[in-house]
Amino acid sequence: MRDKLIIPFHKPHISQKELDGVSETIQSGWLTMGPKTLEFENNFKNYIGSQFAISVNSATAGLHLALNAVGVSRGDEVIIPANTFIATAEAVTYSGAIPILCDIEEKIHNINVELIEKLITPQTKAIIPVHFGGHSCKMDEINMIANKYNLKIIEDAAHALPSFYKNKLVGTFSDAVCFSFYATKTLSTGEGGMVTTNNNKIAEKVKLQRLHGIKGDAWKRNENKNDWYYEVVDLGYKYNTTDIQSALGLVQLEKLEWMRDERKNIANIYKDAFSGKIDFIDESPENESSWHLFVIKTGNRDELHQKLKEKGIDTSVHFIPIHKHPYYKNRYSYNNEDYPVANFVFEKSLSLPIYPGLSDTEVEYIIKYVLEYAEDSN
Ligand SMILES: Cc1ncc(COP(=O)(O)O)c(C=O)c1O
Repeated sequence: MRDKLIIPFHKPHISQKELDGVSETIQSGWLTMGPKTLEFENNFKNYIGSQFAISVNSATAGLHLALNAVGVSRGDEVIIPANTFIATAEAVTYSGAIPILCDIEEKIHNINVELIEKLITPQTKAIIPVHFGGHSCKMDEINMIANKYNLKIIEDAAHALPSFYKNKLVGTFSDAVCFSFYATKTLSTGEGGMVTTNNNKIAEKVKLQRLHGIKGDAWKRNENKNDWYYEVVDLGYKYNTTDIQSALGLVQLEKLEWMRDERKNIANIYKDAFSGKIDFIDESPENESSWHLFVIKTGNRDELHQKLKEKGIDTSVHFIPIHKHPYYKNRYSYNNEDYPVANFVFEKSLSLPIYPGLSDTEVEYIIKYVLEYAEDSN
């Protein structure tokens, strides 16, 4: 334990199987969206238990298309938590709607369901709950509010693969659910995402808009040499994924639960070590986390971050609240005082490394220095 270790914040778990999958796909000659993507979508929807799964090149793109598909448009309002990655607010802005920020719960940093109704106006069209760190939001309560006011729900499940709410996998609790396969996520294709839904109309619209608004599967045209004809029937985007990414995703999906168990083991070791000493975000009785993030809360966050860095340990902060980013603050005139909990937890939160392949020695090393340097958050 005396030697200095170098521990990155995240390392993707890539085995020979992923390398073989990607290599075979490249050698097949089909590089863009094609048969591997169909297979990935199919396996993904079977895993989640949704009727549809449509792959996209990021969760940000997925959120944008899902918003379009549920009918959110210019002048509408969409309620989102104040502490999320900017992508949530950005996608709402793409759709022409206004992101209305809702403060969060202090314990697990998810949207505070008790504050949502106060933010609803005649312009409110949808809510985007974000399952922070992999801890599911209170979906029953959110669905009740949405039903009462006739609102759509799109889940930002960028962190929630696989996460459970009341023993059921996140992915089918609302109109559309958006997952991220970004490099640091629990399933990674480098960049990528998936939209799941049980609604045929939403699935069709997302599918149409992800590739230039072209009707049908354009790539299938190649199956028939003379079939060069296609029609553009909607405004579309270049949001499709590639078979290279899908080949990676297919292998990652097979070991998703194993990777989750690995993170859960690390979370349990952290929890045992920090209990009664340092505050951290834990599961609630109704949610089982993907453990995408392990977030501690300390009184000296910045000093701790620096000291851990000096010891070779990379950590991160999730998130700088939306209303603190200059562009969004200026564009929507957010008032910092309206989000006391998001502000309070932002100052204290630090995310520790948690990923398959992080060794017991590394976990011990992290715990040793966190315990040595962290100040109680209270
Ligand atoms: C909460 C949340 N939503 C959305 C995204 C966007 O994901 P992507 O990078 O796949 O667009 C992220 C990515 O970090 C995220 O953390």
